[in-house]
Amino acid sequence: MMKTSILRFILVLNTLFLAFNLIGAHSSMASDLTKAALIPKPVSIVASAGHFELKANAVIRIEEKSTEMQKVAGYLSGILNPATGFNVQVQAGGDVPSSNCILLVSGAKNDQLGQEGYELTITKEQIKLEANNPEGIFRGIQTIRQLLPARIESRELQQVSWKIPAGTIVDYPAYSYRGSMLDVARHFFGPNDVKRFIDLMAAYKMNILHMHLADDQGWRIEIKSWPALTEIGSTTQVGGGKGGFYTQEVYKDLVQYAADRYITIVPEIDMPGHTNAALASVPELNPDNQPTKLYSGTNVGFSTLQTNKEFTYKFLNDVIRELAAMTPGPWIHVGGDESHVTKKEDYIPFVEKVQEIVLANGKLMIGWDETTLSALKPSTVAQYWSKAENATRGVSKGVKIIMSPAAKAYLDMKYNPKTKLGLHWAGYIEVDTGYKWDPAQLVPGITKENVLGVECPLWSETVTNISEIEFLVFPRLPGYAEIGWTPVTERTWETYKIRLGNQAERFKIMHINYYPSQKVSWK
Ligand code: ACM
Repeated sequence: MMKTSILRFILVLNTLFLAFNLIGAHSSMASDLTKAALIPKPVSIVASAGHFELKANAVIRIEEKSTEMQKVAGYLSGILNPATGFNVQVQAGGDVPSSNCILLVSGAKNDQLGQEGYELTITKEQIKLEANNPEGIFRGIQTIRQLLPARIESRELQQVSWKIPAGTIVDYPAYSYRGSMLDVARHFFGPNDVKRFIDLMAAYKMNILHMHLADDQGWRIEIKSWPALTEIGSTTQVGGGKGGFYTQEVYKDLVQYAADRYITIVPEIDMPGHTNAALASVPELNPDNQPTKLYSGTNVGFSTLQTNKEFTYKFLNDVIRELAAMTPGPWIHVGGDESHVTKKEDYIPFVEKVQEIVLANGKLMIGWDETTLSALKPSTVAQYWSKAENATRGVSKGVKIIMSPAAKAYLDMKYNPKTKLGLHWAGYIEVDTGYKWDPAQLVPGITKENVLGVECPLWSETVTNISEIEFLVFPRLPGYAEIGWTPVTERTWETYKIRLGNQAERFKIMHINYYPSQKVSWK
């Protein structure tokens, strides 16, 4: 008798405890701001007592009528409204509400914050987000997003108390170039897939989308002076599917969509190798004026432009001129990798001529690391992927380096021998391998001053749709975003893997098809 009532009492206690835990889990708020599982980890977090709670009729208050700030504030309300159902309104000017307010202050004139940094102050009454310009506000909004319970990412109404612990965050990036690359040439991905990719990058404060727009298997961007490039060159892809291309109108819409998220698109036309789609479309690019056959395999290094033909440079000037006109960002990427059938004595002056064409069209050149064989202007950037000696040669020529070491940063490398998608010529890249490196320490002789930033490229030989893209990109991309943003002194795998594990609920709510690596304890 006695025994049963004790047992019953324990059972009731246990149920109460479980229920309490469940309620706790539903609000899923870090108890103290320094415990928030933010990626990238901010430069500095100081906690204070209490919390802010976003409630119905909250206001996003911007300082003055700036169309750019209106847009950024509208982006924030677009994130907050579906899950909260609060119909959060943007208020330009006027009195700052005494509570339930997110105050966005652009024009802070704080040198420490630079172009993209922000300061976030959370009190019981308000969230105040300050930055030198709207770009910094946009990056800070990503932090607010991650501080709110994960269910803020739902597009349906959620019953959650929307609390954020009080304190202050001061934050700015280690590198100004933090990007990913999407190869739309091996397989073509439509504009909605690209926009999804952009949104996922933006959530982790990345600011560059490098689009690999032409390769042996396909030409993906409309060039009005050479319509055959897309009429013929866009019609296939790896495996023989129908491929596709972006009209200039669609491409400009992508550029704007990215710009609205403070992401610059870097367009790449790879040359002189990786050019079969162009060679199949424009007969005069070939030595005998005979077009090559379209190609849907995965070999590399078999095609080349004719470096000694004047026609080649007229053609390239047309392509680069039209591309530059669609590119508000500073860079045009001209590839230059794996030109195995171009003689070295032809390759070197070719790259120099192309560099002139890019500069004459008002843009700066980026090339893969092989381009450092040529004489490069100090404004040119080399992207290290393969040979350290190419990267150090670039540094000795005074150019900056984008760090994309294939064995660490290629998103198309398999996680391990058992994962199906991807390749493994540069090795297997588990989530920890992808995270545990420092762009300023990787190559002897290359220091932080020489490094423009970090990029994780996704080549698309093995991926055919957005779900397959996501499996290779997640959960590795947040790690590259953190390498680019967070000071190396603030980064350890041991703490990162806990913060990454805490992102699982967000990934699920955002319907991200991620690889649930066993290196991470997923929450
Ligand atoms: C490359 O992976 N060929 C740049």
